[in-house]
Amino acid sequence: MCGIVGYVGNKHAQDILVTGLKRLEYRGYDSAGIVTLGKGEPTLLRTKGKVAGLGSLVAKSKRSDMVGIGHTRWATHGVPSEANAHPHHVGNIFLVHNGIIENYKELREELKSHTFVSETDTEVLAALIDELYQRKDVKLEDAVTQALKLVVGTFGIAVVSPKEPGKIVAARQGSPLIVGIGKGETLIASDASVLVGHTDEAIYLNDGELAVCTAENVELMDLASQPVSAKVEKIEVDMAAIQKQGYDHFLLKEIMEQPTTLRSTLSGRVVPEEHRAQLGGLNLTEDELRSIEHVVIIGCGTAYYAGLLASYYLEQLVDDLTVEVQVASEYRYRSFHLPKNSVALIVSQSGETADTLACLREIKRRGVPVLGVVNAVGSTIAREVDGGVYVHAGPEISVASTKAFTSQVSAMTIFGVQLAQAKGAGLKELDEFIEELALLPEEIENVLQTKREEVEKIAKQYATYEHALFLGRDTLFPVALEGALKLKEISYIQAEGYATGELKHGPIALIDDKFFEVMLLQDNWLFDKSMSGFEEVNARGGHIVAITNSKKDIPAESIIRVETKLDMLAPVVFNVVQQLLAYYIAVEKGNDVDQPRNLAKSVTVE
Ligand code: AGP
Repeated sequence: MCGIVGYVGNKHAQDILVTGLKRLEYRGYDSAGIVTLGKGEPTLLRTKGKVAGLGSLVAKSKRSDMVGIGHTRWATHGVPSEANAHPHHVGNIFLVHNGIIENYKELREELKSHTFVSETDTEVLAALIDELYQRKDVKLEDAVTQALKLVVGTFGIAVVSPKEPGKIVAARQGSPLIVGIGKGETLIASDASVLVGHTDEAIYLNDGELAVCTAENVELMDLASQPVSAKVEKIEVDMAAIQKQGYDHFLLKEIMEQPTTLRSTLSGRVVPEEHRAQLGGLNLTEDELRSIEHVVIIGCGTAYYAGLLASYYLEQLVDDLTVEVQVASEYRYRSFHLPKNSVALIVSQSGETADTLACLREIKRRGVPVLGVVNAVGSTIAREVDGGVYVHAGPEISVASTKAFTSQVSAMTIFGVQLAQAKGAGLKELDEFIEELALLPEEIENVLQTKREEVEKIAKQYATYEHALFLGRDTLFPVALEGALKLKEISYIQAEGYATGELKHGPIALIDDKFFEVMLLQDNWLFDKSMSGFEEVNARGGHIVAITNSKKDIPAESIIRVETKLDMLAPVVFNVVQQLLAYYIAVEKGNDVDQPRNLAKSVTVE
């Protein structure tokens, strides 16, 4: 949720911390702050709002301190304000925190000696650590471990104290934390993008681990202060991947780079000449694959919708298979039953979503194989699944997920072909899917090149609407849900996705001049059924934007005709048009397209 950074080394920390926070800003942008230690008093700088505000404070303070921590916030406890911004300072303790201290009220009751100045759970943890740190001969890491034993909740924290200026103590339980090992410098961060340009050597902290970091050394221990061996891994993030590369927004860059990122997803996995579509890394034998009878797909938001679309393809590809798709935040608390021979597909772009992770752990605890469909390399879900794949879509910076959706659907469809092959399905049925997968990057390239301006023009017409309905049948139903989510997230227009067939059972009552309708009309066996829905909306004065690959006459207010050779996977191309529509409507409204209000890219709290 929030982003935390730390630096101890031989360079001026302020700029390094602010640059790090800028790279983490997609995790939360309600307030930002840093503290650095050096000669004299610590320099604490905090601001409400974006990291940019912090940049100007740093420009004024210009300290040569070489140790510090920083934070960019997604507010959970307490409104976005300077008082609630991190780092929180209590006595000799400065603390930044990503996560939620669930028992902070009880702890606060215990800390009578401290006068609280913020509404946050985090200040309570800072006060608790400071209280323990006041005891004789207690080292910073000891005060931190003792305090964390009393905490219920999730945390990724970094702590500094002017009493031990060359040291940063970091710890994780539930929120991601990575330690970068540099030459004469050590960095701490919520994700690997902060380390780019400093080092490609990193330690991914596991839950219950704590790192004592100095410029020259990193000591790992568990929360019982027992030493833990450190596994240093190489990180592969290049600078270009975390820059806009000339695009106005990361969102447009990520929409436009889908042909390339999808080719990375398919590379070595889809080989039409060999009638082959296969994922490596599942850690399942052919027999185990063949014995699968039930697949449960788990995700949140766009990942859930990717799973929903893929479930249609799995059902089409594999005869004797039942498939269910579940929203993680609900599924984790349901008393669900999984039949024998089940596997779970855990879908997540960030690989850190708390609800999805909780489902993974519960399903794994029940002995059901959990396979990851993940984008972020080295993320917690990727490291905790039994097997699975990276979708290789590259870092996704914009909060609204686009390229990850396209790659997730494709990866799960490959899984479907592989499963069908293991169960002896004929080549002919599978070849259609394999060929369409191989064609998909080019088809998306074609629609981006030929339709972008047209969509931008149409988008301007609909930017003033307050409400929208997205309607689709069969595989276009999950796409309608995803289209509505994209528009909601970045344009703030209230939008709902609906199965076209459900229209008459209620939502058609909404149709009036405050609404526009995006109708997804694929020229296939359901075209006429879909056109009945179209006629029903049109008859009530709907303002319809039709997205279709049909050449037939469709009397819509606006129409976007998609040229595509695809059939089964055409909905993935339709969705790219929706991504552009949402993007240009949000731009027309002047919204902060990459960092929409109230959202964060990786939801690491419940
Ligand atoms: C999508 O645009 C949103 N950012 C959000 O719904 C997201 O899909 C959801 O939070 C799941 O994230 P994940 O894929 O990183 O687990």
